[in-house]
Amino acid sequence: MSRENPILAAAAHSTDAYQQAIAQSSQAVVQWLQQPEMYQGKTVAELRERITLDFNPQGLGNQVAIERAIEYFLKDSLSVHHPQCVAHLHCPSLVVSQAAEVLINATNQSMDSWDQAPSATIIELKLIEWLREQVGYQAGDAGVFTSGGTQSNLMGLMLARDAFFARQGHSIQQHGLTGNLKKIKVLCSENAHFSVQKNMALLGLGYQSVTLVKTDRFARMDMNDLRAKLAQAEANDEQILAIVATAGTTDAGAIDPLREIAALAAERQIWVHVDAAWGGALLLSEKYRNYLDGIELVDSITLDFHKQFFQTISCGAFLLKEARHYELMRYQAAYLNSEFDEAQGVPNLVSKSLQTTRRFDALKLWMGLEALGQKQYAEIIDHGVTLAQQVAQYVAEQPRLELVMEPQLASVLFRYRAPELPEADVALFNQRIGDALLESGRANVGVTEFDGVTCLKMTLLNPTVTLEDIKVLLALVESTAAGLMSA
Ligand SMILES: Cc1ncc(COP(=O)(O)O)c(C=O)c1O
Repeated sequence: MSRENPILAAAAHSTDAYQQAIAQSSQAVVQWLQQPEMYQGKTVAELRERITLDFNPQGLGNQVAIERAIEYFLKDSLSVHHPQCVAHLHCPSLVVSQAAEVLINATNQSMDSWDQAPSATIIELKLIEWLREQVGYQAGDAGVFTSGGTQSNLMGLMLARDAFFARQGHSIQQHGLTGNLKKIKVLCSENAHFSVQKNMALLGLGYQSVTLVKTDRFARMDMNDLRAKLAQAEANDEQILAIVATAGTTDAGAIDPLREIAALAAERQIWVHVDAAWGGALLLSEKYRNYLDGIELVDSITLDFHKQFFQTISCGAFLLKEARHYELMRYQAAYLNSEFDEAQGVPNLVSKSLQTTRRFDALKLWMGLEALGQKQYAEIIDHGVTLAQQVAQYVAEQPRLELVMEPQLASVLFRYRAPELPEADVALFNQRIGDALLESGRANVGVTEFDGVTCLKMTLLNPTVTLEDIKVLLALVESTAAGLMSA
């Protein structure tokens, strides 16, 4: 070997190198956190030109590789902790989540089997039990940590599909899809996350299987239209595989009427999956927990901790009301979760996951809960919801701005009015405001479409951001708009 053994292990040269590498990296992070810019503002073309891989026969060594990562990655990263970084459901992370990452990465446990992650397996199982309690499910450990909302939604829809076919005596796992597939539908609101469509395509039923239910003026699933769509499906001889309700739509933060949806579905034996990737944070809220009323009634739930739980990416979970449905995806691999092991009650979590090798992301939530405690966790979640209400009021008072809808979670949808432009050009003008802000490196405001209207979006997750910070940001929106207008 041309250098000393590069593997992390007990040897002194290894632990010294480890400590140096971690110290060099964390010092660079501390400096980066103090950069005043939200983004150093380089374009796609500039970054393509600037960033190159230096893979040479000798290797650069850790120190130089880290220096290059600082120069080419860190400095041009988006500061997600910056008060003017509000475009997406993309959170700044807890300090303790960083400490958890150090432990997760150094130990490199793999969650597929007990013999690759003994203490980690128990921690994840206990956390799933605890999450079920928060939801109001019966005691148990049916559920698993996932890479995030998309994968959790996939698990919900897959098990809903397989349970639907199993009721007709058919095993999808053994025999694949069968029958007149065009007649099988999933219902979700027109504001549900696009992963419903993508996942249905992946599950072999295509985008055509997704029927969109209209929404009310608060972007929530309209119950009258849901009833009408169910009746229509019956008249067309179609069968409903699942209803996906959303607790916290991506843009408006709308929460569908979970209790009513669950009651309607129960009458017809339809699986309900709740995508609570965003709104699930309210499980810990002191002020807004009642928004999730009825969540305990549904068959499966998506939670996402890399949104308003402030964990580093990736960190999500899937909860399954009835453990028996896990049988639908059971697979026994002799080398991981043998029958012998299972008979002795050895928990090999590969049985509960779509992944095989899997990160120990649960530790981040575990340490976050312990470090912050109930009160502080509730405070940082509630902060965004309350701030959004204050910001909405402020936006409504500004003559140049228009509030597109009342906030429900922590997002505010608005647009710049531009009365001097024809209405048809206002959409493009708002898009250009968003682009110009990012290009300037001073702010990242979302651009999205709501009810056919192009608008700007602030997602106010950051618990350190104040109304004053947002007033600064909105002044920046107005001055950017004025600059664009005069150009
Ligand atoms: C409501 C909702 N569901 C699911 C997802 C997908 O989550 P992830 O990006 O963690 O896969 C998102 C992402 O923003 C979302 O807003």
